[in-house]
Amino acid sequence: MSVDLQNLENIPRHVALIMDGNGRWAQEHGLSRIEGHKEGAQSVRSVLRAAARAGIEYLTVYAFSTENWKRPPQEVDGLMKLLINSLNSYEQELHDNKIRLRVMGQFERLPLPVRMRLQKTIDATADYTDHTFIVALSYGSRTEIADAARRIAEKAKAGKLDPKKIDEQTVADHLYLPDVPDPELMIRTSGELRLSNFLLWQLSYSEFYITETYWPDFREEHFFKALEAYNARDRRYGGVR
Ligand code: IPE
Ligand code: IPE
Ligand code: MG
Repeated sequence: MSVDLQNLENIPRHVALIMDGNGRWAQEHGLSRIEGHKEGAQSVRSVLRAAARAGIEYLTVYAFSTENWKRPPQEVDGLMKLLINSLNSYEQELHDNKIRLRVMGQFERLPLPVRMRLQKTIDATADYTDHTFIVALSYGSRTEIADAARRIAEKAKAGKLDPKKIDEQTVADHLYLPDVPDPELMIRTSGELRLSNFLLWQLSYSEFYITETYWPDFREEHFFKALEAYNARDRRYGGVR
């Protein structure tokens, strides 16, 4: 049965997604891993449109982790090329839905053609305020937190910040995208029950939705199902109701 968005009272402002299972999907279809990633790119397009339709302000997708650099060079290379091709094919989608593109992660570690292609779309969509599409690339949450700690320490050493005044907000303010609110909902496809170094700080009170569906099979209707599940959650934040 399809989900009627009108019936959902609580739509999250920010949804984070661990897009997993491309390799297993490909294997089950007798295809190469990169074919799985290509099909997964179609799911990104579908979910991007679905999120805009549902009125979600921020969609963050985990596209490549700091740990993913360990994969065979031909897979890493294939993923980087796919990123460029995907941007070429979704750019119009971003303009049509007034979606701003941002990236989070070790930008400088990405190959130059990827950085240039990303920067072009980041600049071209920078003025959109309705929706933001955040792509986590060469992203690792522990690195993000360690970088924040280093920058806080440098400021304290330079006398610009009083160590006694360091609190949760100080840490949050030194993460990669401090202006972005924490995700209310985190979706992981392919059934794995782990965070794999994704947004450890930001997901500390988020609702988790894990589905067995592999990422290349996850489309608009699956995304709406996740929103429906979120709508039914009772968020207590440690209190009582
Ligand atoms: C997710 O699919 C895509 C990336 C991590 C880049 P996987 O490639 O991890 O697929 P599985 O987990 O091997 O099935
Ligand atoms: C997490 O998936 C990273 C991305 C989706 C980009 P992985 O497939 O790399 O994670 P593990 O290996 O299952 O932890
Ligand atoms: Mg995986």
